[in-house]
Amino acid sequence: MPSPPADHGSALATLLDEGVVWGDAGQWLKHLPDASVDLFFMSPPYADARAYSKIPPDRYVEWFLPFAQSMLEATNDTGSFVVNIKNRVANSGPLKGQRHPYVYELVLELQRMGWWWIETYIWTKPNAIPGRFGPRTKDAFEYVYHFAKGPKPYFDLDAVRVPYKADAAEIARRRKDANGRRNTDAGFGRDRTRTYAHGSADPGNVIAISQTYNQYKGPAGQHTAVMPEGLAEFFVRLLCPAGGIVIDPFAGSGTSIVLARRHGRRAGGIEIHADYVEVARRRLADARAEQSPEQLSIAI
Ligand SMILES: C[S@@+](CC[C@H](N)C(=O)[O-])C[C@H]1O[C@@H](n2cnc3c(N)ncnc32)[C@H](O)[C@@H]1O
Repeated sequence: MPSPPADHGSALATLLDEGVVWGDAGQWLKHLPDASVDLFFMSPPYADARAYSKIPPDRYVEWFLPFAQSMLEATNDTGSFVVNIKNRVANSGPLKGQRHPYVYELVLELQRMGWWWIETYIWTKPNAIPGRFGPRTKDAFEYVYHFAKGPKPYFDLDAVRVPYKADAAEIARRRKDANGRRNTDAGFGRDRTRTYAHGSADPGNVIAISQTYNQYKGPAGQHTAVMPEGLAEFFVRLLCPAGGIVIDPFAGSGTSIVLARRHGRRAGGIEIHADYVEVARRRLADARAEQSPEQLSIAI
């Protein structure tokens, strides 16, 4: 596996140039220049989850924190760090059969490290597959945690607005509402005349995007945990300025990089499995051929 170039500027330039490099994120992240990245966006391996990584939940935080420290240094003052992660049921140890708290432990440690915990998003999957999960319903959501370098991250709500649910007549009626602000018995109220002032709606922090079950199949193989494009697209548009830099340290089949580039950001990633690097590179090459920005593909 090739090592990252020793000088920091070249490591970043190589990532942006190659799209996805074959390597260990732990090594590459240490070589990025300070305050150079607008958005780190990732779906790391979940605890125990897949053949490609078996990190026990009890050791997950210890495994993850060194990556987070390097990313904190490499993020610029208005930059963000977004991690999609999922809880799991412990399959051994004293918590066997219960939900393991590693996700919450990780969040608390990241905050202690100095990351600003800005928001928790819930990604719901309208097409979650039913199965047998003991005393549980099917798993139909995952977390997406938004951390930032400081209190004022770049945030473009207008880039992710969605159509209003109300019909045109209701919107017109509300705009003309002569009563304006309505005080309630509790002593507060809202200016309802401005509800529809933006032309489209705030999507909220629960985002519904169908899971991609037909995995990306390229000539070089396939990846088993491909993220839906809409998820990457939402956060790239929300948290990275046009022309800014997006890095995915656990690139897999390259979804975030493809989407970031499609939306005019500079992007690169790292992937430890050579086969997936091939998949991602093929996908990036295909994406270059069909580049055209699309409508945001989330349904609220
Ligand atoms: C959940 S998958 C990412 C999927 C990706 N978002 C996509 O859409 O294809 C996590 C990836 O992290 C990779 N990985 C695990 N440890 C790594 C490390 N230390 N450095 C780089 N990649 C790593 C795994 O091989 C796996 O492909």
